[in-house]
Amino acid sequence: MQIHVLGSAAGGGFPQWNCNCPNCDGVRNGTLNAFPRTQSSIAISEDGERWILCNASPDIRAQLAAFPPMQPARTVRDTGIAAVLLMDSQIDHTTGLLTLREGCPLDVWCTPEVHEDLSTGFPLFTMLKHWNGGLNWHEMPCGADTAFTVPAAPSLRITALPLLSNAPPYSPRRGKTIPGDNVGLFIEEQTSGNTVLYAPGLGQPDEALKAWMRRADVLLVDGTVWTDDEMRKREVGTKTGQEMGHLAQSGPGGMIELLDSMPARRKILIHINNTNPILDEDSPERAELEQHGIEVAWDGMHLDLTGPSL
Ligand code: MLT
Ligand code: MN
Ligand code: ZN
Repeated sequence: MQIHVLGSAAGGGFPQWNCNCPNCDGVRNGTLNAFPRTQSSIAISEDGERWILCNASPDIRAQLAAFPPMQPARTVRDTGIAAVLLMDSQIDHTTGLLTLREGCPLDVWCTPEVHEDLSTGFPLFTMLKHWNGGLNWHEMPCGADTAFTVPAAPSLRITALPLLSNAPPYSPRRGKTIPGDNVGLFIEEQTSGNTVLYAPGLGQPDEALKAWMRRADVLLVDGTVWTDDEMRKREVGTKTGQEMGHLAQSGPGGMIELLDSMPARRKILIHINNTNPILDEDSPERAELEQHGIEVAWDGMHLDLTGPSL
């Protein structure tokens, strides 16, 4: 399987349009050694032609333009997007569906909880019915023994794992989330045996999830914040990482400690918030990640997992 990182930033992107925090200001002015990043999305393919879009970011138009394999020209109107899988119903993971309206009907896999939010608080499913039938909902089974495949990639065995994170502010389950509001994907390529776990929103890893993490060759996991109160410290907001459903990297019980206990061959942080000091390539926090063998995803990062080397 191939994995292409379309967008590696959290909601708002980097720089965020209205933000003058040291990171956003620095990357905008060229005074910080950092790369701009678009909002959270990856694409996965078995054959390099038909792609499974995991999350549909508000930046999808630019992301597709930057990745020609997703724009084949087999017919006069064409796309390489064969399926869309949603991890949650957050704005940064779903708004791109509006941009894809000209390509409806689209096959979309998500849990009943996500489908409900996207039919009520943020009614994308309802609205898009007016565009050639809109979104064909496929219920995403969620839990340990519920692997599924999508027709465009029959060798990829996909298990959606319930994650403890949070539902978006427009969900009735904000602050009282249930399994199904957020999922991670464990994907096994049956031909090569290679496995990846993708979890851009991960608040509290439980034992069940840790067992899945231990089985993964590649971990692509929540890199939103370095410290839980980072937004407050940078005076850009009051929400903590935990309130938003994101586990901070630093400190006891943090993501670095968790990743240290995992045998994965590649450990990669994704969904990086613009306040996170790891965006500065010269920061001590970035150096600390390197010491732990942890990478930071960037837009355009490509992983070829078709063979034995990763
Ligand atoms: C989140 O994952 O919490 C989001 O990035 C927040 C947002 O989109 O505003
Ligand atoms: Mn997000
Ligand atoms: Zn900022």
